[in-house]
Amino acid sequence: MALSGGSTPRELYQMLAQESAREIPWERLEVFFGDERAVPPEHPESNYRLALETLLARVPIGPDRVHRMRAEDADLSRAALEYERRIRERVPPGPGGLPSFDLVWLGVGTDGHTASLFPGSAALREEHRLVAEAVEPTRGGRRLTFTLPLINAARRVQFLVVGAQKADIVKEILGRSGPSGEELPAARVSPVAGEVEWLLDRAAAAGIQDPGLIAKP
Ligand code: 6PG
Repeated sequence: MALSGGSTPRELYQMLAQESAREIPWERLEVFFGDERAVPPEHPESNYRLALETLLARVPIGPDRVHRMRAEDADLSRAALEYERRIRERVPPGPGGLPSFDLVWLGVGTDGHTASLFPGSAALREEHRLVAEAVEPTRGGRRLTFTLPLINAARRVQFLVVGAQKADIVKEILGRSGPSGEELPAARVSPVAGEVEWLLDRAAAAGIQDPGLIAKP
């Protein structure tokens, strides 16, 4: 599986570490990261650090099964290629021949970005590489990120979205009919041979009127 970055997953990771640690076959999991900031692993903004502190250090998963993105590497293109190689080694191919994650967790930004695929970016347009360099547009932070080909090769993608500040973008993405343009990266997540689910709290789902879209309260 691939863990999401950002702050939303914090509570989920804490809950997983406490309540369901015994139910999950941690010894059989391979944990990857959908994106990472160009900071050392101990940095407060590191997605790895968040997952390690709240979950991975608290469950019986071997360190050789936790695959950190080395986004602090000065040579980000080399780090991207190394991570892609690791994914190809450890994640079996799906029907389309690309490594197919059993589960990818993603968040969404208020601009519709997901992982570190930002609107109008080169990483969003990447059609061949599985892991790409990216730049966070407001502060210019460098990133590594899964690309759409890799995300859309997954068997299951789940967006984890909470809070009223996300209601408009959730409505914009889920309320659209037909394919979305470049401007909404999260709307372009559409697994070729898999499922995509949106796990929303009531505040984030406030703009969704279509009862068919609300599978479970
Ligand atoms: C990151 C994430 C990013 C995040 C969204 C939502 O590294 O920041 O990959 O895509 O999921 O920006 O972030 P919040 O959960 O903090 O709202």
